[in-house]
Amino acid sequence: MRTLTGIQPSGTLHLGNYLGAMRPAIEAQARGESFYFIADYHSMTSLFDAAERRRNTLNVALDWLACGLDPKHSVFWRQSDVPEVTELTWIIGTLVPVGVLERSTSYKDKLAKGIAPNFGLFAYPVLMAADILLYDTNVVPVGKDQKQHLEMARDFAIKFNQAYGETLVVPEPDIRAALASVPGLDGQKMSKSYGNTIDLFGDEKATRKKIMGIVMDSRTPAEPKPDADKNLAIQLLKLIAPADVAADFENRLRAGGLGYGDLKKALFEHYWAFFAPYRARRTELAANLDYVEQILRDGAARARATASIVLKRARKACGLE
Ligand code: TRP
Repeated sequence: MRTLTGIQPSGTLHLGNYLGAMRPAIEAQARGESFYFIADYHSMTSLFDAAERRRNTLNVALDWLACGLDPKHSVFWRQSDVPEVTELTWIIGTLVPVGVLERSTSYKDKLAKGIAPNFGLFAYPVLMAADILLYDTNVVPVGKDQKQHLEMARDFAIKFNQAYGETLVVPEPDIRAALASVPGLDGQKMSKSYGNTIDLFGDEKATRKKIMGIVMDSRTPAEPKPDADKNLAIQLLKLIAPADVAADFENRLRAGGLGYGDLKKALFEHYWAFFAPYRARRTELAANLDYVEQILRDGAARARATASIVLKRARKACGLE
């Protein structure tokens, strides 16, 4: 069984990304064959700065490798290193009615924001389908926001098979609805667009400042707090500290006697300790960029071994060979 994950090379990773998407995806590598790629072709639909794309791509590679993506167990590559995907995009695109793409929610959202759409943005779901279908993917774990894209990928595979005979594997979605929802510094869902994130690999001083800046109520330390489980620092502590440590802080807050300053200090320390091994690994990788590049190149060669077989099958099916 093959699982495939596409990673957008955008921005700085935060705790919500890590717990919500990255950790489950990395844990999946123990359970079967995992394919991960950095979607740099997709980034071209909205980013027009070459140096920034190169930097973002490298940062994503460092982040994922540092957090445990193991190239011995998984195939990890840069999407554009297997350009066969663009040919499959064309082949599939010829079977996709324009109306289907016009109804894509992500496309409509972009239009609503006033973005002048380019062809790439319009064709985004076709490229994403090609990403999936090019590797005979069985399962695609995605967040709810990608559900429609995945349904399109299934439809396109079925359409192709109807037009040209059984050729492409129809992928199954694995929609992660019940994933840990991670609260941000203001208590809303942690999200870059709310500006309430804690970065995974932020600098120590800035991270401490962010955590110490969490706003709490004005009750005195001595007061018992029966609602201790609703406290934001406690909720975050539960996500990153050992369970007994988090429970101990919750009990002390409930009983009274624990000040918010001490609680936030503990949260920072556990946060910093939780990511310490990843931080060290990331620093090490950043000092060995040739090694990182080699991993991506090896990954691309392995990915291509499958891609070329599937593409040949598709080309034959539709009479290109
Ligand atoms: N569109 C996905 C996102 O925004 C990224 C992606 C591109 C992807 N191609 C994919 C995800 C193929 C899964 C499979 O997160």
